[in-house]
Amino acid sequence: MSDTITLHRPDDLHLHLRDGAILEAVAAASADFARAIIMPNLVPPVTTADTIAAYRTRIEAALPKGAAFEPLMTLYLTDDTTPETIDAIDGVAIAAKLYPAHATTNSASGVNDIEALTPVLERMAERGILLLVHGEVTDHEVDIFDREAVFLERVLDPLRRRVPSLKVVLEHISSKTGIDYVKSADSGLCGTITAHHLVIDRNDLLVGGIHPYNYCLPIVKRARDREALVEAATNGDTRFFFGSDSAPHTDPKKLGPCGAAGCFTAPVSLPILAHVFEEAGALQHLDPFLSRHGAAFYGIAPAEATITLERCEPYTLPPIPTPDGPIAVFDPGFALTWRVAGA
Ligand code: DOR
Ligand code: ZN
Repeated sequence: MSDTITLHRPDDLHLHLRDGAILEAVAAASADFARAIIMPNLVPPVTTADTIAAYRTRIEAALPKGAAFEPLMTLYLTDDTTPETIDAIDGVAIAAKLYPAHATTNSASGVNDIEALTPVLERMAERGILLLVHGEVTDHEVDIFDREAVFLERVLDPLRRRVPSLKVVLEHISSKTGIDYVKSADSGLCGTITAHHLVIDRNDLLVGGIHPYNYCLPIVKRARDREALVEAATNGDTRFFFGSDSAPHTDPKKLGPCGAAGCFTAPVSLPILAHVFEEAGALQHLDPFLSRHGAAFYGIAPAEATITLERCEPYTLPPIPTPDGPIAVFDPGFALTWRVAGA
């Protein structure tokens, strides 16, 4: 049993850094990563080449001095996005994010008519810009635990048939159905998996009281769904890679009568993954999950520099203070016994 794990500097291929004081407070927590795909769901959302470039500059300014972290920027798709918008963001953004309108935090400006977006998606396919999908329907009559599965059938499958050459990432897969769907695709489809969906299920959200820090979207599901996610992440399958969906919210936002969705995992995602992969007897697959599978799908050079995780005494991390209140760090429900060496 080794007490260190050497990894290529990892990629977090789905990250919320927010803006303003929260960006300042959380940016350092991702600095061990080589790169991250930055989510565009700010208020207002990041919908143009100019606002993407300006956001990237603010992120770089918020990083610790000397941090070797590259933000990979994304466009927020709306009903008003045009093929010309895609022309304009080529070279500024690597991907565009599809939020069905009202599916999750800051998605009110998301897409209502996904079929009408077809010319935009075709232009993305031509230019090699990836489509990142929040895969949940929003129809009131669809149960929240079924929204991912229904989205695959009603929305994603027809979309992929309409634009077969588009590269698509099904983000933060939360169900066995989602895993099976990605596995069933011939090519052009991969999925990200978060650290929190690997370690909690809906009992951890709802048994013994409501646990708001475990509330995220897509909502955590049954134990058997979590087990399918662990299997997909840890078995070396190149179609799955890491995207934390680390989503910081302050306590006033998280703990109110209508608590916000999102788990702030950035400071603990590597220790959680080391725990999960070690428990699965699959530490040899951790490095490719973190730095190879995603880079290959995105067509970006894999990182060469390394970091080391070391086994340590159990620890917990305190909340991160901000002017708007503290941001609690996600608690996986077990002792953290790995840390980044030299951190
Ligand atoms: O839990 C989530 N939080 N899921 C999302 O899709 C969005 C994110 C956020 O921005 O807070
Ligand atoms: Zn997200």
